[in-house]
Amino acid sequence: MSKFSKRIKQSWKCLLHGPAPASAPVDLFTILNMAWAGQAVFVATKFGIVDHLASGPKSVAELARLTGAGEAHLQQIMRALASWEVFARDESGRYRLTPLSEPLVTERSSWLRYYVLIWGEQYYPAAGQMLEMMRSGRTGYELAHGEPAWKHTKIAPETLKLFVDFMSSVTDTQCEAVAGAFDFTPYRSVVDVGGGRASLISAVLLANPHLRGTIVDLPYMEGPVGERLSRSNLSDRCTFAGGSFLESVPAGADVYMIKHVLHDWSDTEVPKILGNISAAMTDESVLIIVEGVLDDSNGADRVLKLQDLERMFLTGGKGRTRGEFESLLRGAGLQLQEIRRTTSPDSCLLIARKRR
Ligand SMILES: C[S@@+](CC[C@H](N)C(=O)[O-])C[C@H]1O[C@@H](n2cnc3c(N)ncnc32)[C@H](O)[C@@H]1O
Repeated sequence: MSKFSKRIKQSWKCLLHGPAPASAPVDLFTILNMAWAGQAVFVATKFGIVDHLASGPKSVAELARLTGAGEAHLQQIMRALASWEVFARDESGRYRLTPLSEPLVTERSSWLRYYVLIWGEQYYPAAGQMLEMMRSGRTGYELAHGEPAWKHTKIAPETLKLFVDFMSSVTDTQCEAVAGAFDFTPYRSVVDVGGGRASLISAVLLANPHLRGTIVDLPYMEGPVGERLSRSNLSDRCTFAGGSFLESVPAGADVYMIKHVLHDWSDTEVPKILGNISAAMTDESVLIIVEGVLDDSNGADRVLKLQDLERMFLTGGKGRTRGEFESLLRGAGLQLQEIRRTTSPDSCLLIARKRR
């Protein structure tokens, strides 16, 4: 495998399997040109090129005929991606999938396929608004799509579907590791704040048959959550509480979880969310924040810091260091007790309790 392809593979895998090693610096020209590579991957996935290659190697002419893509442009896209080992070309000029592109086949329903699609449809246009974002104070997402992210998902069903598929496919790959990193045995009830399509709480409830659960999320998530709970035979052990965690959170549960939510909010809103959770907690309740914990030092957490930019232009949110979490928790009357790492660097468990 070439040096280039190793590097791409590492950065794509690192979110789930570990941070990118401190490798030699990539030159600036290459960093800028990776945007074209990303677009080419998006086009090849969206246009069905990847799916057609799943049934065997094909020439550009065959792929153009099968998909309706312009042959000349497709030739350029395939040639460029093959040079980065996203595809491989044989001596007869036919292309086939490689380990980099195999996860993008529709049937695999991988988080990476959903990420490529949401990246091309929603994130890339939002990233293109970063300069205007700095001037206007509105998020790149709002500038590109006309509405802030959570409002847009409410009014655009296709946007919501892609987001929910992406989010839950990511969480599905992480939830066992997260659920396994905390002993729920002494507890009876758990609330998942901003629980999305119930991926994490389902894993927790399935592994702990004595627990009952509640999911707090925006009211339009009721359908996807109900469908997921019923598929996992959990409808009688888990309820959906539609509403905003900026307003309130159901009170009195033993455990509160909040995964990949705080990074979508600024330092103005996070105190409200943590304040509402703190107000809902009893003196014995425990809070588990599941999120990446940024290492501020130069060269560390390179991919998490790019994800941090993504949060910034999508929602106005941010990644945080241990010290930043501690200070926000303190402001809400809570105290960080420990941080447990999992196999996913963006899913550490920050365990907090009420300050005594
Ligand atoms: C990035 S997703 C994380 C979902 C889930 N915790 C996971 O890790 O799969 C953020 C979730 O917060 C929800 N959300 C956004 N604003 C909210 C609000 N004001 N009140 C409740 N939920 C909200 C979204 O609908 C979405 O499901």
